[in-house]
Amino acid sequence: MTLTPQWLDELRSRVTLSTLIGRTVKITRAGREYKACCPFHNEKTPSFTINDEKGFYHCFGCGAHGDAIRWMTDQRGLSFMDAVKELAAEAGMDVPAPDPRAAKKAEAQASLRDVTHAAAAWFAQQLSSSNGAPAREYLKKRGISDATRTAFGFGLAPDSRSALKEALGKFPTAMLVEAGMLIAVDDKEPYDRFRGRLMIPIRDARGRVIAFGGRILGDGEPKYLNSPDTPLFDKGRTLFNLDKASPASRQTNRILVVEGYMDVIALAEAGVADVVAPLGTALTENQLAMLWRMVPVPILCFDGDAAGQKAAMRAAARALPLLRPGFSLAFATLPAGQDPDDIVRARGADAFAALLGDAQPLVEQLWAHEVGAGPLVTPEERAALKTRLLGHADAIEDADVRHHYREAFRERLDALFARARPERSSRVPWAPPQRGTRRFAPDPRLQPPGAETRSIGAAGIGAPYMAALLGGLLRYPAALRRHDEALARLAIGNPADAELLDVMLDIANAQEGLDCEGLLAILEPMKVYNRAMTLLRADGMHFSFNRRLEDGEEAAEARETALRDLDEYIGVLVTQPEIRARLAEATADFQRTMDDEGLARQQKLRAMDEDLTRRLAALSDSSRD
Ligand code: UTP
Ligand code: MN
Repeated sequence: MTLTPQWLDELRSRVTLSTLIGRTVKITRAGREYKACCPFHNEKTPSFTINDEKGFYHCFGCGAHGDAIRWMTDQRGLSFMDAVKELAAEAGMDVPAPDPRAAKKAEAQASLRDVTHAAAAWFAQQLSSSNGAPAREYLKKRGISDATRTAFGFGLAPDSRSALKEALGKFPTAMLVEAGMLIAVDDKEPYDRFRGRLMIPIRDARGRVIAFGGRILGDGEPKYLNSPDTPLFDKGRTLFNLDKASPASRQTNRILVVEGYMDVIALAEAGVADVVAPLGTALTENQLAMLWRMVPVPILCFDGDAAGQKAAMRAAARALPLLRPGFSLAFATLPAGQDPDDIVRARGADAFAALLGDAQPLVEQLWAHEVGAGPLVTPEERAALKTRLLGHADAIEDADVRHHYREAFRERLDALFARARPERSSRVPWAPPQRGTRRFAPDPRLQPPGAETRSIGAAGIGAPYMAALLGGLLRYPAALRRHDEALARLAIGNPADAELLDVMLDIANAQEGLDCEGLLAILEPMKVYNRAMTLLRADGMHFSFNRRLEDGEEAAEARETALRDLDEYIGVLVTQPEIRARLAEATADFQRTMDDEGLARQQKLRAMDEDLTRRLAALSDSSRD
């Protein structure tokens, strides 16, 4: 069937939507629109509006939204083609004759979908069977409930080269290969692509299974295996969970993009439904367009570590040429080394929401990245910064948006360099720094990029790091006495955590040789006990000292390692805020003096800070496997 977009537009423009809807719903005029009580949900005051000019209806209550065709399918229950035919007859238009090639292609796709559907059903059945016990256990360990397991259609591919092939024997082998379910190499017998993996169906925008992602159970390579591109599945044109996230985003007016599909699923488990993920690749233009069809400013979440920030910049670069007035991106930076799954499981959906609240606009992301990319001492370095920033602006095709980006960058550059030269700053409207009193606040934009990622700032320790520390101290109270003084000096943001640490230090000082159980017994009647239990149960940080250990010889060894790691961790936590504070001060000094000595001092502190960050990263499990 060759229904071109132009033909469909013509059809829509010939239908008066209010007349069509007015046949089944009582509508009243309201300015240039019409209002009605929404036929898609129960209500007494009208929140359903019809706009004839634009040709769509929208309900502010339930988010129902569509055009004339959508009305016929959703309200009247017609198939798409029947809706088109009925509207065309009324509008006096001829429905174009079917195109045999397109029809054949559609037919082929439909039968490939039969394959993927049958595979999904069989995988799910395997997971439910007795073979599936270890995989079900794995899901449980990851905090995935039965309801979520069913909602996402989780399955299991048994560790066999022929099990699926046999189970789907009613389909020709060539079709199984074409659907990506079997691998056919040269003249060898085709065999099952997915073996010994937890299977996650990938659906299209309409909720139909078109491909799979398979996660290895436990360790092994590759961690994830995706279906290859097939006539049904084009990685670059698919967003995982779009079918569920799109209606959810209509309610929240928000869409989040995370890196992995397990992140999408963990967030769904935590009640956050407006989330999609690309399929192991950087966002494509097509995927960006899909996101912008849902909301004007999608929020992209990236790991605060170097790799994550590089990915963020890749997404930014991809988006620049496509920006239009009102349409942009925002960037949420997660604590280094943590993904959304880690965060919601360790600290809950609210903690994740707080990180989203700090999301930066695209312009800010570009600015912060380029300013943090290197020293800005010589005129050449400063000019290079300007060139890089204006280069980003030049990539924007839309003239208005491009103009405003240039302006924004120019203003920031002027402010940045005016501040770096205080002798000139008396000419600018804000006050010059006062000598003798406290040094003026360092421009946070001159800090090393790592400082912005909320791990450990000069101001104190980020919440996830604090949670890992307290969790570790609860499990290994011996460290409390050992680091008594250093721990007492820590700047802790959250008063509940500060109180818990104080109490623990008091207890440890009064009582030698405490173990975890003993400490908990003393804490139990106290108000801080709940917080302590929450911290003990959280397992998002992946440090050895946050892990629960069973008894036994191996456990004794693991306990020793954990305690050693905890010692080192405390060392870094205590040192880094001091280094960061000195670095901030050195940066401010240097901005004022611009002399070699200042630069050397600043660079040395920066290197120390980076070294501490590396030590911290090396302590977490994720860098060890
Ligand atoms: P990650 O390696 O960040 O995995 O990959 P994750 O989401 O944290 O997974 P868990 O928590 O260890 O289970 C993010 C995404 O990159 C793609 C997948 O799409 C994955 O969702 N990926 C990753 C692959 O395609 N292949 C791989 O081997 C690894
Ligand atoms: Mn993960």
